Amino acid sequence: MESSRQQELLHLLRQDCGSCHGLRLLGGLGPPLTASALQGKPKEYLQQIILHGVPEQAMPPWKGFLNQEEVGWLVDRLLEGVAE
Ligand code: HEC
Repeated sequence: MESSRQQELLHLLRQDCGSCHGLRLLGGLGPPLTASALQGKPKEYLQQIILHGVPEQAMPPWKGFLNQEEVGWLVDRLLEGVAE
């Protein structure tokens, strides 16, 4: 993936995801997205939630904006602790 796209994704994470998960992703309307909070949750599960959302909760689907590769990349960053 191009580094300019990676910058866009990190920006989206702070701005759009941060609007619900907290400016520093420490939690808000949505749960925290820190590595420690996500510890033990399968990567596949996290990717599915981001792509398809949680219809009965406020979590929106992102599949119109992000492809599978981009979601996988973001989940890797979260599990690495980009939010910490
Ligand atoms: C409109 C508010 C909102 C936005 C915007 C939002 N989320 Fe969420 N998100 C939620 C809520 C609420 C939940 C909890 C859903 C539940 O209770 O099952 C959630 C759950 C999640 C989970 C599951 C966490 C866990 O511990 O199981 C992940 C991962 C996640 N969101 C990532 C993201 C990412 C990445 C973005 C941006 C691309 C994003 N969210 C944008 C509200 C939001």
